[in-house]
Amino acid sequence: MARVLTGIQSSGRPHLGNILGAIVPAIELAKANVEESFIFIADLHSLTSSKDPELRIENTRAVAAAWLAFGLDIEKTVFYRQSRRPEVTELTWYLNCFTPYPMLANAHSFKDKAERLADVNAGLFTYPVLMAADILMYSADLVPVGKDQMQHLEMTRDIATTFNRIVGEDIMTIPEARISEAVKTIPGTDGQKMSKSYNNYIDIFLPEKQLKKNVNSIVTDSTPMEEPKDPDTCNVFKLYSLLASEDQIQEMRGKYLGGNYGYGHAKKEFMELILEKYAEERKAFDFYMNNPEEIEKKLAAGEEHAKEIGEKLLQKVREKLGFR
Ligand code: TRP
Repeated sequence: MARVLTGIQSSGRPHLGNILGAIVPAIELAKANVEESFIFIADLHSLTSSKDPELRIENTRAVAAAWLAFGLDIEKTVFYRQSRRPEVTELTWYLNCFTPYPMLANAHSFKDKAERLADVNAGLFTYPVLMAADILMYSADLVPVGKDQMQHLEMTRDIATTFNRIVGEDIMTIPEARISEAVKTIPGTDGQKMSKSYNNYIDIFLPEKQLKKNVNSIVTDSTPMEEPKDPDTCNVFKLYSLLASEDQIQEMRGKYLGGNYGYGHAKKEFMELILEKYAEERKAFDFYMNNPEEIEKKLAAGEEHAKEIGEKLLQKVREKLGFR
């Protein structure tokens, strides 16, 4: 059985783009049970950018709550916080010593961050090595990632290959990236890709009043109410279509083309659809956020399991490197 592993940065509450692009497909796959699945919250990685402890706790909780609310089954998925498996930092050190400096210096994401960010710390620089340790620690075969992470995955493969060659044994499994082409780009409220960094996201977990504001912020053109409108260029219609049934989509299309139907009406329908479609998930999310000990219990189970698996690999590595 192939082992699939992926990490999610805990940089905020998952938004609709994260949910449709990552959470739902990963949970569907885990349900199918044809692969062994590992999903973890990359909270150590988040320290490269944020130093705020309360925010980290809050975001880690929100990420866990969102995955659990969408039905992540801890019987089928090893679900854990990266920071609760500190062995990964030990492996990171070993791997650092097998990682050529120029490879890290040439990483796109590092160069990009070094230009943009005020705090260019060494953690940002060695970020890909920690990511390699995340993957290699559990001998993952497949790693679902976005296109932006392809280079990191190539580095993981390089580091693993170098390690195996130098120690003279195939200790590390060489992972493959799984880039899902099928994942549609989810448009944000302004029509660009939905992203936390563009501040154009829909947060389906917001209380009703705030959700309404959030939905109302979707950008539309100034076609008057009476006139027919083009659904295919409208952000509200695009977002609605991602959640609606085929019948609902056709119905709204008809209303756009028919005229006497304003963007305000469409937004209201989109809002109602969110409330209806995600009623249970919204409730579950609130439940977990108000009962963090329930999150704790679920993560603790995965963290125990991860420990057993990780320790085995680490023992082999220590042995090979003469740390006996
Ligand atoms: N760097 C990844 C991202 O930003 C998150 C991540 C950390 C990850 N470790 C990983 C993804 C290991 C896959 C496997 O999306």
